[in-house]
Amino acid sequence: MRLLVTGKEGQVVTAIKQQAADKGIEIVTLGRPEADLADPESLYAPVIEAKPDVIVSAAAYTAVDKAESEAEIAEAVNGKAPGVLARAAKALNVPILHISTDYVFAGDKTDFYVESDETGPTSVYGLTKLHGEQAVAAETDNHVVLRTAWVYSPFGNNFVKTMLRLSETRDELNVVADQQGCPTSALEIARAVLEIAERVSSDADPKLRGIFHLTAQGEANWAQFAQAIFKGQQERGGKAMTVNPIPSSQYPTPAKRPANSRLSGDKLAVAYGIKLDPWEKSLDECLTALFSNK
Ligand SMILES: NC(=O)c1ccc[n+]([C@@H]2O[C@H](COP(=O)([O-])OP(=O)(O)OC[C@H]3O[C@@H](n4cnc5c(N)ncnc54)[C@H](OP(=O)(O)O)[C@@H]3O)[C@@H](O)[C@H]2O)c1
Repeated sequence: MRLLVTGKEGQVVTAIKQQAADKGIEIVTLGRPEADLADPESLYAPVIEAKPDVIVSAAAYTAVDKAESEAEIAEAVNGKAPGVLARAAKALNVPILHISTDYVFAGDKTDFYVESDETGPTSVYGLTKLHGEQAVAAETDNHVVLRTAWVYSPFGNNFVKTMLRLSETRDELNVVADQQGCPTSALEIARAVLEIAERVSSDADPKLRGIFHLTAQGEANWAQFAQAIFKGQQERGGKAMTVNPIPSSQYPTPAKRPANSRLSGDKLAVAYGIKLDPWEKSLDECLTALFSNK
């Protein structure tokens, strides 16, 4: 199987590349400098030329706060480019897997969000990602939208690596405690993406198409997530840290984030039999990888 994945050095694409090698899956990446998602139409020809069996739309403009002042670029990359990829998928008669986000939701639900819940993004990033989902669905029925959340990994930039870096110079940190979500490892996302890609490349069942939530089991707020990271650091011989839980009002950011963006994975479990590990277990795997490089 040949997979075309957008992005080159992103967390999810890197995890996909790593794991595909072990499974004998061929990966073609499409990203900068050759391909710029901010110029969506330029993507069509190289995708057609690559003749993939499945397209994975993993790249995105992920700078949530910066997107507030770069709405046009964010819209091109997140809102428009996925539609062009989906049009190419339709022309090639292959499925497209598109990675989306929990930030398509407003955050005012008290329970976990399910796929059929009404969307209501509170940020430019969330709105442009919602447009991307819609653009994909408008081009082809042969799509799988995978909404994930709070992505971290041993690669790139993410909350886990930021916390570990800050702990090198600080003994305590104030961390927001009034946003609830599902921290999800890119390693887990990659495993699921490869499994889903294999399924949809050979199974045309409509029940395998549509929107699915792909997040780790369990829930946390950012302060609890930070506490777990530092507990893992200490267990590996690193220093102890104090985390002071604070409200979002004490940590103002340009983008407003949902207070609750916990996603239910039940639909994915029923359709595909895929359930990601509890986030604490995946965090342990990520910390082990990070500390083995130290
Ligand atoms: N990170 C999260 O917390 C989070 C949460 C929910 C959903 N998601 C979604 O999960 C997916 C994967 O995210 P991630 O964490 O792997 O992101 P990431 O680590 O920030 O990587 C983003 C990737 O997109 C590429 N990219 C961005 N703008 C581009 C452009 N104009 N042209 C070409 N490539 C471009 C980047 O390329 P360069 O290396 O050249 O910059 C990079 O490879 C995205 O769809 C994201 O929206 C992420």
